[in-house]
Amino acid sequence: MQKILVTGGMGYIGSHTVVELIQAGFDPIIIDDLSNSSVEVLDGIEKITGTRPQFFNFNLCNDVLLGNFFQNNTDVRTVVHFAASKAVGESIKRPLLYYKNNLLSLLLLLEQLAAYEDSKILFSSSCTVYGQPDQLPVTEQSAFKQAESPYGSTKQICEGILRDACKANPMLKAISLRYFNPVGAHESIQIGELPQGTPNNLVPLMAQVAAGIQPELKVFGSDYNTRDGSAIRDYIHVVDLAQAHVKAVHRLLGNKQRNNYEFFNIGTGNGISVLELIHEFERVNKLKLNYKIVERRPGDVESIYADTSFAKKELGWQAKLGVEDMVRSTWKWQQSLSSKK
Ligand code: UFG
Repeated sequence: MQKILVTGGMGYIGSHTVVELIQAGFDPIIIDDLSNSSVEVLDGIEKITGTRPQFFNFNLCNDVLLGNFFQNNTDVRTVVHFAASKAVGESIKRPLLYYKNNLLSLLLLLEQLAAYEDSKILFSSSCTVYGQPDQLPVTEQSAFKQAESPYGSTKQICEGILRDACKANPMLKAISLRYFNPVGAHESIQIGELPQGTPNNLVPLMAQVAAGIQPELKVFGSDYNTRDGSAIRDYIHVVDLAQAHVKAVHRLLGNKQRNNYEFFNIGTGNGISVLELIHEFERVNKLKLNYKIVERRPGDVESIYADTSFAKKELGWQAKLGVEDMVRSTWKWQQSLSSKK
């Protein structure tokens, strides 16, 4: 079985991707420092797949431990790199931490991979690299705008590092997946998002408000130039997103790339407003959310959703799950978390 290193494989998107990789016949090995996850995620992965992947607990910025890992695992040449700090608000308060974690981990991984002629890396990027695009839906060819946060800036810089490293070394193969807004949980309800403290993202907050953990949901802005005044995003089910990684791994391993550095939008192509999502959550789960409209949140773009045609044509991937699956699995996962407490 082909070994794949999955950095950050205990996290939200990482764990769902580990499941899909196992189910596709790969042997994922996880490195994760558990800074934003829990060791119990391994139990969930094992319950779903019947396989408990190998797990190493350390921070990727530790070059000694990372070097030891590659020395002991010389057959690992393919990396799916999730491990990174991802809270937009925290990145504004602690920019140096974000630049260090997100840039250094990628640089150290690329240094290790440089020892091999046939190394491959799949990178977690974000639609945040586009800022507010001039045209919607946003295609992969849209220019990067000034990033709204140090987090967004690290994603832009990491993509630049990969582009330049691939230019200098034609044997290195890389793909960046630009995620839109990942939500939902695995249908088994064995794995899902585990936000630490009060969540900042809309969907985990909706779930916590519904569960009575948070008193109310604040809708940031109702005066955007959109159909109902609230901001529009392209929410994508995390299982669809995880499956896009499997497609991208196959593309890397099968030498199917057109260029040795490629990047794809991974969204559904459907823009949904904050209020529409709230109403869908209420309708599908048959409950009422206590929400109120407040001022816009600084740094938010008005509207963004993906042109997914390139991913469909080149990766052979498109999202299968809809908003109903997203809000239903989110609520089921929240209920399972609440019942464990
Ligand atoms: N929103 C609210 N109330 C909240 C939280 C969010 O109205 O309490 C609104 C936001 O204003 C935005 C939408 O819900 O219009 C989605 O917000 P999220 O915080 O869930 O996600 P963002 O679109 O802001 O995306 C950000 C980063 C991405 C990153 C993503 C997940 O821009 O790069 O968070 O971490 F991938």
